[in-house]
Amino acid sequence: MKEIIAKNYSIFFNNDGYDSLSGYLKTCNYSKIFIHLDTNTNKKCLSVLLNKIKISHFETIISRDGENNKNIESCINLWEKLSVLGADRKSLIINLGGGVVGDIGGFIASTFKRGIDYINIPTTLLSMVDASIGGKTGIDLGVLKNQIGSFYDPKMVIIDSIYLKTLHKSEIYSGYAEIFKHSLISGQQLFNNLCSELNSNIIYNDQVIKQSIEIKNNIVLIDQKENKERKALNFGHTLGHAIESFLLKSEKRLLHGEAIGIGIVLASYISHKLFDFPLTSLNLIKDHIHSKYKKVNFSITEITEIIGLLKHDKKNNHGKINFILLKKIGVPVYDVQVENKIIIDSFDYYNK
Ligand code: GLY
Repeated sequence: MKEIIAKNYSIFFNNDGYDSLSGYLKTCNYSKIFIHLDTNTNKKCLSVLLNKIKISHFETIISRDGENNKNIESCINLWEKLSVLGADRKSLIINLGGGVVGDIGGFIASTFKRGIDYINIPTTLLSMVDASIGGKTGIDLGVLKNQIGSFYDPKMVIIDSIYLKTLHKSEIYSGYAEIFKHSLISGQQLFNNLCSELNSNIIYNDQVIKQSIEIKNNIVLIDQKENKERKALNFGHTLGHAIESFLLKSEKRLLHGEAIGIGIVLASYISHKLFDFPLTSLNLIKDHIHSKYKKVNFSITEITEIIGLLKHDKKNNHGKINFILLKKIGVPVYDVQVENKIIIDSFDYYNK
């Protein structure tokens, strides 16, 4: 599969990726190579990578797995390890893991000695189609997601769906929500394809992964710093992130994509109310999300608390909460303020 050209790097697929990485390592002559893993990918993915490519000298640096470890303590731990192991400005970090590994690894790379090189090899569907590309790095602040971070591009991304075999089905579904979101903001063709009866059992294949990455990459190429067009990638995320944060410490806790699935239904409903987003598409989206994810019921007290969390959303400015909505599939509207009453109605629509 042909590579995708991003702004300052390329996204390679399968064995082409390892060939390119071998060549790149020979050319760049890094002083030290660090493979950054979490406890999970250390067990399940490192041996897969080392079967694919021979890296003669490397050290591993390991973070604890899970979103609740995407914090400053994990960064301090990794910066200290890099320092003890003698990392310098000509060192390279290879992130082998999901979004948490990539986001933390990119962030420590962007800050260690004012910035060293890194490469992403995502091992989850979510990080393949979203977190590993686009140059966003970062960590959470308490339960608030991605509040601290930087824009800092990797030197290369390698996508190999072999790693998806190590995942639980729910993790695959979690990544699917971002693929579905990409279909909604890009145009009717991928949306129709994903919603078609014929594909009802297909969650991913290499072609869909590539198409989804192309959609994101094309947006990032226009607007990396999220001044306008990139905001479309946040469709479903305003309420989705608030739901994810709200449930983080509860027994109803959701995976990222499960929360974003709900956020997509809510944002589509609000789009229908405010911008005449077609009812047929709205109902199709709700049915599609309900067919993929378990339904969560929200009480009015919970909804009020979730709305309270919206004030932390990164897209806010001048104290205003900005939603990304759709006029129709593929036509986003940016920075829309929404009354609480419509948000509450959107939960009613989701709950029905
Ligand atoms: N995940 C949204 C973005 O990369 O902009």
